[in-house]
Amino acid sequence: MKKIIVANWKMYLSADESKDCSQRIADSLVKSPKNLEVALCPSFIPMKDVALAVRGSPVMLGAQDVFWEEKGAYTGEVSVMDLKSLGCSFVIAGHSERRKFFQESNKVIHEKVRMCLLHGLIPIICVGEDWEQRRNGQKDYVLIQQLNEILEGIVIQKQRVIVAYEPVWAISGGGGVHADPKEVEYAHEVIRHVLMDMYGSIEVNSFFQIIYGGSVSAENIHLYTNLPQISGVLVGSASTKPETFLELIGKI
Ligand code: PGA
Repeated sequence: MKKIIVANWKMYLSADESKDCSQRIADSLVKSPKNLEVALCPSFIPMKDVALAVRGSPVMLGAQDVFWEEKGAYTGEVSVMDLKSLGCSFVIAGHSERRKFFQESNKVIHEKVRMCLLHGLIPIICVGEDWEQRRNGQKDYVLIQQLNEILEGIVIQKQRVIVAYEPVWAISGGGGVHADPKEVEYAHEVIRHVLMDMYGSIEVNSFFQIIYGGSVSAENIHLYTNLPQISGVLVGSASTKPETFLELIGKI
């Protein structure tokens, strides 16, 4: 599988800025394609414009969230069907900002991942400890528990799944502490072992990718992507300006 770089635009950009930013990224990557997957995850309102902007380019589309039922009386929610109809391939599930601000539990994330897989969307499952848990030596435990509760009972039938290790303390909005690549490498090993326990090494090597996210920038990206276990990155604030994001892509 190719390495992947995912832009999580969170709620940083207006609809017009999202359209403009996606157009500029798509135009550049048509001219000089990289042997790399690039996915943009805008907020929901500009998604259709972003889908049009990236059409015909190698840039793919992702969503920042999804609801766990197909349709019904769920005020304010967005369905997998709508995401698919716009050409979405990826869905971020369980970002720490959703855990923090919307009390999303592992159970809720499990339901979202299940819905994505049922409809052929590739989940990007975010896991990671917060500063307190890290300080108390609970990092491994947190990763093991999150993965077990999110993936419990989920059968992978030749479907691609991405797990993003995102230590909360390293995310720009959650502390922005620079994560030592050795520590990231260690966490990736823990994640890989949990997945191998659950699915076996053949499935994990064939269908799972483990990526890293947390204050990734053009200056530090190589520290993470040079690690052989890391299949890509999830980038927040550094992905919101086309020139910065393209510079970052150029460094992989
Ligand atoms: P950041 O965000 O790159 O701004 O730290 C990453 C993320 O939250 O996915």
